[in-house]
Amino acid sequence: MLYKILEQRLLQTVQAVLPGVEAEAVRVRPCPDPKFGDYQTNALMALAKARKMNPRQLAAEVASKLDLAQWCEPVEVAGAGFLNFRLKPSVLAQSLREAAQGGHLFFQKASEPRCVIIDFSSPNVAKPMHVGHIRSTVLGDSLARILRLLGHHVVTDNHMGDWGTQFGKLLVGWKSHLDPVKLQTDPIAEMERLYKLVNAECEREPQILEKARQELVKLQAGDEENLRLWREMIALSQKQFDRVYARLGVRFDHCFGESFYNPMLKKVVDELIQSGVARESDGAMVVCFPDIPELKDHPAMVRKSDGGFNYTTTDLATLLFRWEGGTWGVRPNDIVYVTDGRQQLHFQQLFTVFRRWHPEANAKLAHVWFGSVLGEDGTPFKTRSGETVRLEDLLDEAEERAWKVVSEKNSELNEAQKREIARVVGLGAIKYADLAQNRQSDYVFSWDKMLALQGNTAPYLLYAYTRIRSIFRKEGENLAGGIGECILTAPEESALLRHLLNFGLALDATVEDYRPNFLCGYLYELAGHFARFYENCPVLKAEGSTRATRLALCDVTSRALKQGLEVLGIETTEQM
Ligand code: ARG
Repeated sequence: MLYKILEQRLLQTVQAVLPGVEAEAVRVRPCPDPKFGDYQTNALMALAKARKMNPRQLAAEVASKLDLAQWCEPVEVAGAGFLNFRLKPSVLAQSLREAAQGGHLFFQKASEPRCVIIDFSSPNVAKPMHVGHIRSTVLGDSLARILRLLGHHVVTDNHMGDWGTQFGKLLVGWKSHLDPVKLQTDPIAEMERLYKLVNAECEREPQILEKARQELVKLQAGDEENLRLWREMIALSQKQFDRVYARLGVRFDHCFGESFYNPMLKKVVDELIQSGVARESDGAMVVCFPDIPELKDHPAMVRKSDGGFNYTTTDLATLLFRWEGGTWGVRPNDIVYVTDGRQQLHFQQLFTVFRRWHPEANAKLAHVWFGSVLGEDGTPFKTRSGETVRLEDLLDEAEERAWKVVSEKNSELNEAQKREIARVVGLGAIKYADLAQNRQSDYVFSWDKMLALQGNTAPYLLYAYTRIRSIFRKEGENLAGGIGECILTAPEESALLRHLLNFGLALDATVEDYRPNFLCGYLYELAGHFARFYENCPVLKAEGSTRATRLALCDVTSRALKQGLEVLGIETTEQM
């Protein structure tokens, strides 16, 4: 990774001039305008400012002491104190050659691997997975994949909602209104119907509410019959989850679920009381935050006045379990939660309470939140009849619509091929539409946009990939090991290669702030650079080292695209 070499050398030189400067203060980044060079740093301006020094003078001094002759043209001082670096053509060519030979793919594994726990997807039992779950599932899965690619130890956990007050109502519904035929054909719809029915009843009739409460108490006390029904509801839901995850290619290391922590809840609250973190208020146990402005008016309840525990209690037990290394036996460096933005307050409270309870726990705790999926009219995405859209229906429709696109383009493919391509393109389109957004904004769900062959979409990237692959089909040539000398001649070749050099930077930036849209943006630009290169630089008609260089560029571009899509959770297809 050339920019890392530059960064290291720069840091050494800066430290020789200004002892004690931290590595974080010295960053090398791509030049926004290639006119000025390949990389630049603005570090010296900030360092000079903090020390009341002249920034240009400092930059000049560092530049004069910096020995980068092996990699760069002479370093230039620019503007108010930037340093600009331009890589030597021979260095660029060498890097391409090494990549084409399989030595690297423009990224490197983390020098200090971290153990990262990611809690994502986490749907609720007895309810259909809906469009909202796509965001947590797809974001969490892609973060896990990218972190793993970078060499981190990732533990994924699906914190399913398989415990809680809803089971009281579900049990009442199951015992008095169950339709066994419907349960056979569509168990999730039937359970949802039962829940809604009893929920409405509870609002009208207090004695039904009381009945639901009693069923819940019986379940919590270990009543055989209720436990059996509860297990059946979970098993039926699990089938649905498994189907969705299999289609999406998502897997979890663990699915402990909320119920797993049930036996630990009493101890959690006892400890919180003993350590003075929680106190009584109107019969309930709460934690107050008078010193934190955002939380001042939002105490966290950890035990209800009826003695019952809640979502927060369960999450505290979960957090401790994870911090202690769960069943995998490694203390995490990071614990990451991927949920919608409405849970921000909950996680702020959770992290604060946990820090007071276990001040020694130094893991980084992150709530990676996201906005809502909206319909074209700007209100929450619904079916035409106003119901929430089921994820499974959405995936079906994506494949169906992609099949139309594929069929119109390709009459020569057989039906099975078209179906397979449509599956990859349709699911890819849905995932990519989600990942390419700034996760914190709401986005409008649009079939036309996500399936478009132009723009920042999965079909565009997948098509770019197949185009490159078709060059190799025509060529029938396997490049590995056989690549000759690389010489870059056309500006489009260099522009493409310079962009490839920043693949690792894009991956690092993506995990640093948990934002897969950075990687999407990078891949989209990569496809753009490739298109310009391919338009201006004949590959198969070229000769000698020009041809070898161009084939190498095609090869490494296709591999970077495939790798990038893979860590977004998107499969590729060889034809489209
Ligand atoms: N089941 C919750 C929901 O559907 C999400 C759980 C997120 N994870 C957690 N540890 N609280 O909103």
